[in-house]
Amino acid sequence: MAATLPTLNLIGAGRVGQTLARLWTQAGVFAVQDVLTTSIASAQAACDFIGAGKPSSGMDRMRPANLWLIATTDARIADVATALAQQAVALESPRGTTVFHCSGALSAAELSPLAALGWHTASAHPILSFANPDTACAQFSGTPCALEGKAEACGRLQAAFSAIGAQCFDVRSQDKLLYHAGAVFATNFMPVLQAVAEDAWRASGVPQALLPHLRASLLHNAVANITRLGPQGALTGPAARGDTAAIARQADALAKWDATAAEAYSALSALALRMANTSSTTATSAANKR
Ligand SMILES: NC(=O)c1ccc[n+]([C@@H]2O[C@H](COP(=O)([O-])OP(=O)(O)OC[C@H]3O[C@@H](n4cnc5c(N)ncnc54)[C@H](OP(=O)(O)O)[C@@H]3O)[C@@H](O)[C@H]2O)c1
Repeated sequence: MAATLPTLNLIGAGRVGQTLARLWTQAGVFAVQDVLTTSIASAQAACDFIGAGKPSSGMDRMRPANLWLIATTDARIADVATALAQQAVALESPRGTTVFHCSGALSAAELSPLAALGWHTASAHPILSFANPDTACAQFSGTPCALEGKAEACGRLQAAFSAIGAQCFDVRSQDKLLYHAGAVFATNFMPVLQAVAEDAWRASGVPQALLPHLRASLLHNAVANITRLGPQGALTGPAARGDTAAIARQADALAKWDATAAEAYSALSALALRMANTSSTTATSAANKR
């Protein structure tokens, strides 16, 4: 007789909730049970995509489950956890139930009303841009996933995420914000830097028709160099040459155009100079050892 799968309830089933629930359903890891979103229609659409689950009309209608995923937007997680804790008392949900969210910046402490009931709380942050559930399902295998929270919950999630191809690692609760800031630098600032660059090119008369080509060629070039040589080896420009006079002149020109862009330019140039100095110091000490 086939073993019964652990049950999973979802509160919030957008890009991340649908992706994970579908992958777990297909891999036979969890039996997706009740799905609650902001409307029955969106919950039904999520269940259709997942290929399992029953849309729920309210938290009070949800059945006890072995695991709960709160995959709402970050701003809603604490409120949902508080409401679920009140419901869990009513449902007499067993101690040892696992509950987790997928926020990168927030820790398992968001779920403290449920921890107070003896539930095992954690956060599991897959480092992938979930553009939509279809593409995310196709791209998920190999995704690094940061686990944080109670050991029992992390152990359970490690097995579940590994089963769908994630590469799990632990992050300490006190390091979550710093960890997530790293992810913001690595990915969220890319479009911001590109937008500022393109505005500066437009303002300085670069033909509009050339912008798509400039965008594609410079981004491809940077990605190829950084992945092949690492950030230090790929650094070029005035900071790599130690040309502080050129940096100061450019910062002045930018300040006349956009004060915020000028501040960002100066801060990033300071980081670039520090990086260039570190790599030249490392190269000198390596040469001295020869
Ligand atoms: N997107 C990413 O690339 C990414 C990557 C890693 C981690 N994360 C994290 O994953 C979590 C979910 O993000 P997401 O991008 O999947 O969000 P999303 O696509 O905006 O989906 C949010 C879901 O929450 C539902 N919802 C909102 N408020 C609710 C409430 N009070 N009660 C019940 N359901 C509610 C929404 O319902 P409707 O469907 O009815 O609107 C929707 O199903 C967040 O913690 C986020 O930080 C996101």
